[in-house]
Amino acid sequence: MKKQTFLIFLIFSMTTCRTSCFTNKQVLEISSPNNNIQAKFLLSPEGQPGYSVRYIDKLVIDDSYFGFDFKTVPSMENGFIITQHKKRNFSETWETILGEQRIVENSYNELKIELMESDHLKRQMNIVFRVYDDGLGFRFEFPDQENLKDVVIMDENTEFNLTGDHTTWWIPGDWDSYEHLYNTTKLSEIDAISKRNHSSLAQTYIPENAVNTPVTLKTDDGLYISFHEANLTNFSGITLKVNTETYSFTSELVGSADGSKVKISTPFVTPWRTIQIAEKAGDLIESHLIVNLNEPNRLKDTGWIKPMKYVGIWWEMHIGKSTWDMASGRHGATTENAKKYIDFAADNNIDGVLIEGWNTGWEKWIGFDDREGVFDFITPYEDYDLDEVVRYAKAKDVKIIMHHETSAAPRTYEAQLDTAFALCKMYDINAVKTGYVGKIIPKGEYHHGQWMVNHYQKVLEKAADYEIMVNIHEPIKDTGIRRTYPNMISREGLRGQEFNAWSEGGNPPEHLTIVPFTRMLAGPIDFTPGIFDIKLADYKPNNQINTTLAHQLALYVVVYSPIQMAADLPENYVEHLAFQFIRDVGLNWEESHVLDGEIGDFVVLARKERETDNWFIGAVTDENDRNIEIDFEFLDDGKQYVATIYADAKNAHWNKNPTAIDIYKRNVNKNDRLLLKLAEGGGAAISLRPAD
Ligand code: NOJ
Ligand code: CA
Repeated sequence: MKKQTFLIFLIFSMTTCRTSCFTNKQVLEISSPNNNIQAKFLLSPEGQPGYSVRYIDKLVIDDSYFGFDFKTVPSMENGFIITQHKKRNFSETWETILGEQRIVENSYNELKIELMESDHLKRQMNIVFRVYDDGLGFRFEFPDQENLKDVVIMDENTEFNLTGDHTTWWIPGDWDSYEHLYNTTKLSEIDAISKRNHSSLAQTYIPENAVNTPVTLKTDDGLYISFHEANLTNFSGITLKVNTETYSFTSELVGSADGSKVKISTPFVTPWRTIQIAEKAGDLIESHLIVNLNEPNRLKDTGWIKPMKYVGIWWEMHIGKSTWDMASGRHGATTENAKKYIDFAADNNIDGVLIEGWNTGWEKWIGFDDREGVFDFITPYEDYDLDEVVRYAKAKDVKIIMHHETSAAPRTYEAQLDTAFALCKMYDINAVKTGYVGKIIPKGEYHHGQWMVNHYQKVLEKAADYEIMVNIHEPIKDTGIRRTYPNMISREGLRGQEFNAWSEGGNPPEHLTIVPFTRMLAGPIDFTPGIFDIKLADYKPNNQINTTLAHQLALYVVVYSPIQMAADLPENYVEHLAFQFIRDVGLNWEESHVLDGEIGDFVVLARKERETDNWFIGAVTDENDRNIEIDFEFLDDGKQYVATIYADAKNAHWNKNPTAIDIYKRNVNKNDRLLLKLAEGGGAAISLRPAD
């Protein structure tokens, strides 16, 4: 690391001192490569480290301070001196195996400040800032040292002091669930406590008025800011406690059974605390900040990691057509039914079939307190012949996706991990969907606490050993670990499509106009789009999907995931002309562009498929109808394309006429524009193939 002489500003302040007056504050500065973002490291007169952030001429984060509280030793907060600081520039490009963009640029300026307590314990802590053109991350390093060995962190007190009462898109700081609807309020109006006692959540715990991340804000002068974390490893997830009067957030780590937050030994580093900053909402989506702040790929051979389109014995359970368990007499996962889905996949360019409810234990799944030992990940139900299903699928060149619902009993799962993955390996199954429905056993641990962070990590690494890709439901939040472990292909961690099948009111039309600017900044989403039977009249007359059919198609482009489900029942697809879009749509992208969008209103994305010259466009709107104009300037020079357009019909409406869709073709090139009208709750999907 190149050491540079650095300017230390001594600011003598008569007016804004924190506890004692006429003292000085030390400041070290670092800017983004394009100089638009300036971060300042601060050391208060009392020796407390902190920071502030500007974007060009705007203050984004006002002076904010850091501190850690421990169980048995004094807090590390004040009394620090700077022993050293180093600055370096870094720039590389790296290639994703699966991703929104094949080549990712990773360029930042870094400032590392080494701190030591000036008094008796002389404990050390380093703070590293990495400033990119699209935001910044900072983290704390606790080096190996005499007076800090094994530590129990009771709190991390990192402040994010904002400069106004920004509009905020937020979900509550739930330690167990990310499956809440997004709220749009002023920062001063955030009331996470009012979201407690949610009837549709199998697990939820909201101890404070806090929000989960990513949380995205818009300032009155139009700047977008989003807070999250990157590389959450052997630590607890962060939530952000809200101070509605001072317009600030303070970190609140997820706790554990004994009330502590993190148990760890030096040397260690915390996850990166991240702040994305953008002038356009769409730039948040195009940012690679979170993955860039993760370590490079650790898997030697990645040839087995492949994108996948899949169908599954899944929606039929959610709408009550069949059940996961066998005792009901309406078991979904029978050999015969699996073959029906395999046939459908083989006929329709679908790579895989997920089969849920294949293994014993489902009679004692939801609502049971003692779920330890209930699930078995190797024993099929009597009416499901795993051998035969795998044989049949292989003969038709269709992959089986294994399902492991742990019922939030991770110790039971860990005890069987090797046998469960060995079984997959034996059958050449290299994708597993896991699930963690319910309160975590042991009691007092939470989905987003350190204990579970380590469990999810263990499963991911073990899966990699067996060359298995993982798609997690009720997951730990995504923090970009897919860069390091590319077998981490997708996850839920939001209010997915399933809520439309059984929750009161379902997901409102605006849901997928907020998700891309919040949850999706963290990484891929297994949302399970593509429901064509919008009204569910035969199975769930009191539930429905609150979008048009064209909106459902658009989600294959809008919502990024290299594993995408065609979630509806096969019988709702056969013969439907709109299904051609799902057959055709790409999964792994050369490049992605947000053409337009406003959080909570609409978004339009264009993505180019890898290894083909095909482009796909998806546009979705909220409950308001909207005219959009697509400018095809992103298309390749000198090429003509045949566009197939799947758009809301003239009288379409998410509730009154959701399945009215127009499908038509146009020849286009990069000089063309296309006007489209999106219906209330509507959308549009376009596939573009080079004309031969
Ligand atoms: C909840 C998951 O989100 C869903 O996809 C799955 O079908 C059920 N759990 C059962 O595992
Ligand atoms: Ca779920």
